[in-house]
Amino acid sequence: MTDKPFLTDVQELRRRARQHIDDGAVTEGYRGNRETIIKLLNEALATEIVCVLRYRRHYFMAKGILSEPVAAEFMEHATQEQEHADSIAERIVQLGGEPDFNPQTLTDRSHAEYVEGNSLADMIKENLVAERIAIESYRAMIDYLADTDSTTRRMLEEILAVEEEHAEDLSSLMQGVVK
Ligand SMILES: [Fe+2]
Ligand SMILES: [Fe+2]
Repeated sequence: MTDKPFLTDVQELRRRARQHIDDGAVTEGYRGNRETIIKLLNEALATEIVCVLRYRRHYFMAKGILSEPVAAEFMEHATQEQEHADSIAERIVQLGGEPDFNPQTLTDRSHAEYVEGNSLADMIKENLVAERIAIESYRAMIDYLADTDSTTRRMLEEILAVEEEHAEDLSSLMQGVVK
């Protein structure tokens, strides 16, 4: 268990998160910007939905192996990721877009992965990896938005703060569970 795959994931995430940002820089004017922002928000929406599903799976599995406090943490995170998904979907509609809830393409559009994990330690680690991916991708979006859409940026900053708390929670859990 080295840090290698984890670092690769983050690099891939950064690459993907920047793809559409680069497209957006080419386009001038509000309309082009809005399209890019909606595209980015739909990727964030997919990421949040995948995180809800992963955390809920882990909640039930952790409960099964009698890890009530860890399971409770997973469920709390699942609920908060659902709130993020809802805020993002709402904002997409406000911007004149359509939130993409298509389950068939969900994991392709998500930055974070759906990894089931075989043990409690695995689950915690996978969730931490996913949170770190979310943190990097929200940061990239916030940088991209700068002053062009302060409402969306403020929403993403609030979500980012919660993702940072999640990562911190998982870090602490990892100390208690791994080894
Ligand atoms: Fe989230
Ligand atoms: Fe999170």
